[in-house]
Amino acid sequence: MAQRIKPIEGLAEPLVAWYLAHERAFPWRTQPTPYRVWVSEIMLQQTRIEAALPYFERFMAALPTIRDLAEAPEDVLLKLWEGLGYYSRVRNLQKAAQLVMREYGGELPSSFDELRRLPGIGDYTAGAIASMAFGKCEPAVDGNVLRVLARLTDDDRDVMQTVPRRELSALAKRLVPAEAPGAFNQGLMELGETVCLPNTMPKCAECPVREYCAVAGTERARELPTRAAPKARRVERRTVYTVITEEAVPRVLLHKRPAKGLLSGLWELPNVLTEEAEPLPSTVLSAEPLGEGRHVFSHVEWRMNGLLVRVKPFTPKEDYVLVTAEELAAYALPTAFRTYTTALPQQLEIEEDVQ
Ligand code: ADE
Repeated sequence: MAQRIKPIEGLAEPLVAWYLAHERAFPWRTQPTPYRVWVSEIMLQQTRIEAALPYFERFMAALPTIRDLAEAPEDVLLKLWEGLGYYSRVRNLQKAAQLVMREYGGELPSSFDELRRLPGIGDYTAGAIASMAFGKCEPAVDGNVLRVLARLTDDDRDVMQTVPRRELSALAKRLVPAEAPGAFNQGLMELGETVCLPNTMPKCAECPVREYCAVAGTERARELPTRAAPKARRVERRTVYTVITEEAVPRVLLHKRPAKGLLSGLWELPNVLTEEAEPLPSTVLSAEPLGEGRHVFSHVEWRMNGLLVRVKPFTPKEDYVLVTAEELAAYALPTAFRTYTTALPQQLEIEEDVQ
């Protein structure tokens, strides 16, 4: 079937035309202010577009300016990010906003090099903001775009490795047109998200640039890009405790995680490695199993066993709090604990006096 018949240098024009006719109306596209483009790109780094959309709107409503972001209290910030995961993204976002307040008078700089120096902004995000928000002629090459480029050029190296990545980024830099860098970059992304799909036969028949593609319509398209086998994740067995006080208004025990490392600074249900779990103290009033849960992080997988423990009211130690059902809403609890946290409102229900 049709292999590339036109030189790849001509790719930009049909790609941009297709993008302008097909682009989905995302809120960061309809109002592409630098701040909105920036926040959306950080959210989209590890989150699917559909999942990010409600978070994006809520974030913008709560923190409409870079100053608001710079000044937001940590608990507000974490609450806005609750459920998105990879919380260092939002911490870096705030650090960068504070730096932009100090050094740039609250306006995001427009050059690739200045953007690249801000916390949380790498080559991809600097290129995305520079091109989409400021019209700068810079490429923006993420995993999706690497896949598209690997197929266009029939490159069977692992595109996540430094050298192929650098070379494909250099190719993107050559191809991006000065007249429409934002549309070109988003066109490549859109192509990767809607046509040149991963892990399946891409929809080559629908592709606006198939005439420029080295593998269009062939089995080879499905095989690319080649990816190295992922490293095995460490598995941790954890016992997760839902500790609830028996009193007129019951409270649940939460623990604040350390400032560094996995889920740093977030609140959680107290938990320990199961192999290190101690027997429950004799003061507990009752204990019942809450079943198994599982959560996969990038480097570790938790296999959890939940335990509901009812206790008399007590004074928590440092980094622990007891909170009522009503107060719970203000705490950012990571999705990892969802198996157990969804039951909390019911477990914390106030027991009516039986007349
Ligand atoms: N993924 C990350 N940024 C994107 C954008 N602006 N459009 C489509 N997909 C994206």
